[in-house]
Amino acid sequence: MQAALAGLVPAQAVRANAPALTLPSGYRFSLEPITPASKPLIARAVSRLSLESSRRRFFTPRLQLSERELDALTDVDGVRHYAFGVCGRDARGAVEGIAAAHLVRVTDAPATAEIALTVIDAHQGQGLGKLMLGRLAAAALTRGISHLRALIVPDNAPVLGLLRKYAPGARFAYDGELYRADIPVPQVAAALPIGF
Ligand SMILES: CC(C)(COP(=O)(O)OP(=O)(O)OC[C@H]1O[C@@H](n2cnc3c(N)ncnc32)[C@H](O)[C@@H]1OP(=O)(O)O)[C@@H](O)C(=O)NCCC(=O)NCCS
Repeated sequence: MQAALAGLVPAQAVRANAPALTLPSGYRFSLEPITPASKPLIARAVSRLSLESSRRRFFTPRLQLSERELDALTDVDGVRHYAFGVCGRDARGAVEGIAAAHLVRVTDAPATAEIALTVIDAHQGQGLGKLMLGRLAAAALTRGISHLRALIVPDNAPVLGLLRKYAPGARFAYDGELYRADIPVPQVAAALPIGF
């Protein structure tokens, strides 16, 4: 595990035939499936989040995830749980994970899925959030999911901005702790391209 956390991850973490895309910063990346082999990449990426981003993603600042949490994040079957990661290479040429998107069906409402988006701070503000939300909406459409749900801490301006701009028709309810956004899928799929 220590070696993995140091960035020495399996070569298969990035597929040889994955289309390479480029951020405005020039950073080259590809979209990759998430499997149990992704755990070291996810653990390393979580350790690189600022405390603020970590709190916004996990509702309490986390420097490390438990093995059980890593199991849940990588238990991706494509039906109940659809997810993908964004990978590139660090300054030393080692594979790194810089973002991830998850869509998990709500147990008692299978046409609704809860979403979670994470981009590590160094790569925020360059369109990855938009790209990932568009991809999740496209995946939801093909799976018969009509609504996406997001749980949002009230001071999370980036994700509130993202949804207000690109999720027309989203409804926000506040329970005194979190906003719950209910997002109609067709509108967000129409508002966002799946490409970059
Ligand atoms: C939320 C998050 C995924 C957005 O990803 P990103 O790659 O930084 O976002 P993008 O560059 O794609 O920006 C998309 C839109 O979000 C909005 N946005 C982004 N940053 C913003 C900010 N600081 N303030 C307000 N709106 C912002 C804008 O509407 C932007 O659209 P535009 O570029 O056309 O103006 C990212 O900030 C993140 O991972 N945050 C920490 C974890 C988190 O909060 N996850 C969400 C839990 S539901």
